[in-house]
Amino acid sequence: MSSESECVLVTGGAGYIGSHTSIELLNAGYHVVVIDNLANSSPRAIDAVQRITNRSVAFHRGDIRDRTLLDKLFADHDVRAVIHFAGLKAVGESVAEPTKYFDNNVYGTLNLINAMRNAGCGRLVFSSSATVYGDAASVPISESAPTSPTNPYGRSKLMIEDMLRDICAADPTFSASILRYFNPVGAHVSGEIGEDPLGPPNNLLPFITQVAVGRRPELSVFGNDYDTADGTGVRDYIHVVDLARGHLAALEFLETHTGAFTHNLGTGRGFSVLEIVRAFERTSGTTIPFRIAPRRAGDIATSYADSSRAAHDLNWRAQLDLDAMCADAWRWQSRYPNGFR
Ligand code: NAD
Ligand code: UFG
Repeated sequence: MSSESECVLVTGGAGYIGSHTSIELLNAGYHVVVIDNLANSSPRAIDAVQRITNRSVAFHRGDIRDRTLLDKLFADHDVRAVIHFAGLKAVGESVAEPTKYFDNNVYGTLNLINAMRNAGCGRLVFSSSATVYGDAASVPISESAPTSPTNPYGRSKLMIEDMLRDICAADPTFSASILRYFNPVGAHVSGEIGEDPLGPPNNLLPFITQVAVGRRPELSVFGNDYDTADGTGVRDYIHVVDLARGHLAALEFLETHTGAFTHNLGTGRGFSVLEIVRAFERTSGTTIPFRIAPRRAGDIATSYADSSRAAHDLNWRAQLDLDAMCADAWRWQSRYPNGFR
């Protein structure tokens, strides 16, 4: 059987990055099984994925902490690899309710790993985050930079990373690709799926698109006194479709490599908040009213990736530029002003 006709389990596949990755998997010929409890997503995302690809997804509504369900799923489908997106990701909520994050993210992942090993499935691609670096001493940030997450969400990611490294070291039949994402933005070019946050967006791009579509009056720019060219925070924004393709490259890598591997996925380029606002205005033809607000607690000045290890090992590079990120995010938001809800 060629790898492309393999069955891949996508946890959190109804979510933002999981739905875009499912499209790339289906387009490459993989069979896709999704488990998602819809805690932060809509089944309409799965419908859209099927429509866009003209392929079907085996969707199971359920929780990765439910071992009985996982065992049934591995018994019913010949799952050869897992891409694991399911998790909670709100930094502020994780500070207020840390146990929720350790239960959902850390325990949920352990439960998934146990079910995989029980079923003889030994390849896992895991969604980690650049947040594990905390406030890095220098940029670009490479994988060898010290890890020092500053909140329970970030610590849940690092705990899972450590768990995976230990398990892979002990079990030669189990391998993991740990992908540290920088700032995923944008949407599928069809405009049929995109980022659909519940409540006020925490992240910059969805906030901007909601201002553009009239759902919010103005953007607050959190600080203009950072040590950056224009004083606003600088981040490495990566198109979600590039990110999705990085997962396919990681899957292929695990076909020929055994162990635990860590890769940054970013573009290697930083843009400031004001540069993002201007790029969005230019590509969308809208005006984004904004005011300068105080710094947001916990924010850092500058973060961007050294992605050379992913280029070397995975033969993967981000291809889509900032204009594509903005134009695609806007196509989705203007077509679906209220997202899937
Ligand atoms: P998302 O919330 O859109 O997707 C996560 C999905 O997982 C949701 O559909 C949610 O319903 C589901 N889910 C959560 N807990 C579950 C559980 N216990 N069982 C089953 N399903 C569950 O988020 P996203 O932006 O697509 O992020 C995907 C992954 O990437 C997450 O693990 C996140 O921490 C990580 N990540 C995201 C970013 C980002 O900025 N978006 C950055 C770095 C890392
Ligand atoms: N920003 C604003 N106004 C907003 C939202 C954000 O000015 O309304 C600024 C922030 O201060 C920052 C930049 O825009 O300078 C990007 O902020 P995001 O919240 O979009 O992204 P962060 O880099 O702060 O955080 C993201 C994820 C985290 C993850 C981190 C590292 O949200 O979960 O990347 O991967 F931990």
